[in-house]
Amino acid sequence: MGRHNIELSIDGRPAAGEVESRMLLVQALRQVFGVTGPHIGCETGRCGACTVLLDGHAVKSCLSLAVQADGSRVTTAAGLARDGDLHPLQKAFQERHALQCGFCTPGMLCAALDLLNQNPNPTDGEIRDALRGNLCRCTGYQHIVEAVAEAAVVMAHAPQKI
Ligand code: FES
Ligand code: FES
Repeated sequence: MGRHNIELSIDGRPAAGEVESRMLLVQALRQVFGVTGPHIGCETGRCGACTVLLDGHAVKSCLSLAVQADGSRVTTAAGLARDGDLHPLQKAFQERHALQCGFCTPGMLCAALDLLNQNPNPTDGEIRDALRGNLCRCTGYQHIVEAVAEAAVVMAHAPQKI
């Protein structure tokens, strides 16, 4: 199996490493680059636990090959905080009790940020629609929807594009 050297930015830091041709992006993030925020759930694109932002757009990193990310900017949930301050989405998840076990949370945050970047003032229905590819076994979703709506209000007053 072929191996390739790739270079990318992960959460604002340059990273370079060798990956196998068929290695998934989520595997490379975790195994090659030691970035363990994106979780591996189903590995078939159904659960959303592996969601990251690739050049600003939410992707399921179990559906992308690592080589496809060569030269790209990857942002994980861990990269949302700035100078030690939680991102408004992270704060809202914390304050609204939008997580319990936390397994889905990194993917939820990335999917939610992609939504708010495209639609800064979503309805509850639009939030649910945007997050329908991200499964949570704990919360029942209502607190997650409320957290995203709250973050949208905060971000409207202090926009932060990631
Ligand atoms: S691990 Fe990627 S969608 Fe489930
Ligand atoms: S908080 Fe446990 S799966 Fe969502």
